[in-house]
Amino acid sequence: MSYNTMYFIMMWVRTGPPLPLVFLLMIHGVSSDDWTVRYSPSHICALKDSTVTMNCTYTYPTGHRIKEVFWTKESVKDGVEPSDLSEDPEYSQRLQYLGDQQQNCTVRLSHVTLKDSHKYYFRIITNKDKAMGIAGVTLAVTDLQVESPERVTEGDSVRLTCKSSCTLTDRATFIWYRNSQPLTERRDRNNELLLQSVRREDAGRYSCAVHGHHHISPTVYLDVTYSPRSVSVWITGSGEIVEGDSATLRCSSDSNPPALNFSWFKGGTIVGSGRIYSISKISSDDSGEYKCRSINEHGEKYSDAVTLNVMSVRWFSSVAVAVSAGVGVLLGGASGAFVMYICLTKRMKRRSAVKEISDPTEDTYTALELKSTTSDLYDTLTTVDPRRPEDS
Ligand SMILES: *[C@@H]1O[C@H](CO)[C@@H](O)[C@H](O)[C@H]1NC(C)=O
Ligand SMILES: *[C@@H]1O[C@H](CO)[C@@H](O)[C@H](O)[C@H]1NC(C)=O
Ligand SMILES: *[C@@H]1O[C@H](CO)[C@@H](O)[C@H](O)[C@H]1NC(C)=O
Repeated sequence: MSYNTMYFIMMWVRTGPPLPLVFLLMIHGVSSDDWTVRYSPSHICALKDSTVTMNCTYTYPTGHRIKEVFWTKESVKDGVEPSDLSEDPEYSQRLQYLGDQQQNCTVRLSHVTLKDSHKYYFRIITNKDKAMGIAGVTLAVTDLQVESPERVTEGDSVRLTCKSSCTLTDRATFIWYRNSQPLTERRDRNNELLLQSVRREDAGRYSCAVHGHHHISPTVYLDVTYSPRSVSVWITGSGEIVEGDSATLRCSSDSNPPALNFSWFKGGTIVGSGRIYSISKISSDDSGEYKCRSINEHGEKYSDAVTLNVMSVRWFSSVAVAVSAGVGVLLGGASGAFVMYICLTKRMKRRSAVKEISDPTEDTYTALELKSTTSDLYDTLTTVDPRRPEDS
């Protein structure tokens, strides 16, 4: 029988839509143009998991009676009969012949996989001969992949592409998802998503799909980097801190990538670095306004100023002295009250000075003045401390 096998020659009709016309060339026997197999279209790009219809029509010479028609993915090899795809376990459940025994050879393949990408042929066996449309129909099955830059900086313009390995029909409408939520952002070209001036909120897991199809691309994470913001300072131990205590100032900021460079300013002067600034054995010199600066590769930001109030221990003890002095007015009680008066006045002056600071340059000045005020206070106090009689 192979002696009699028919061969087809494929010709392309150049005008109009490219339809491969398959003509039969008789190697043996009487020449006839009654054998034709036409696949329309001849190339199909299908999305993974979709259902593909391979349109097909055929004719055969009059006088022949159809014995068998089937689809195969094997071309004719010498003496080897191609096998019927509907008997292949990989296809049998998914292949549905929609044609007939006369002229329609349309077939449907459902749930296509990437492995189905192949060339498929229609085979005709009559009582007198065998023929095959050797042009075949080429099936390409594609999945979708999001193509995106891995990392962008806030303000950049970003283009995400939903890639397929073959060109899907123009009618395919792409859908985009961020963190599984459908998006309505502007589409540049059909399969592209344009994020103009990307924001931090645009970071997320992106995937794409084609309208009317189940297949969804794997997600791709888009990272949006930005300079520090929301820089704030936390002081542990709220309320007043007493001299000799320790204080810890913590700086936090929101940035991407995370800021690693933190600096501390007291007034306009840099006093330390690192996320945490600790002061042990705090003295009233440490009172003042503190700011933290957070830096990452995209920029820097300062926190608002926070005020650290250190209560003087000597101030407390001087009050105690004054009270006892008031009880025993015996020895120049008036001078004790006078000292106390000086202490309180200076103390209040200092505190009001701290509160007024706003300009960082003034800050420095005040910090210096504060020091001299404190030593004044110390000198005054030493003269009346009852526990240190040698000083009186
Ligand atoms: C198959 O052919 C029919 C009729 O010619 C046409 O309407 C349909 O669009 C074709 N299918 C494909 C997938 O091209
Ligand atoms: C072939 O049969 C299918 C299914 O019945 C039909 O959709 C298609 O239009 C037919 N094609 C032609 C050319 O008649
Ligand atoms: C932190 O930033 C400052 C200012 O840009 C720079 O001088 C310093 O070297 C940085 N420190 C570290 C540890 O990167």
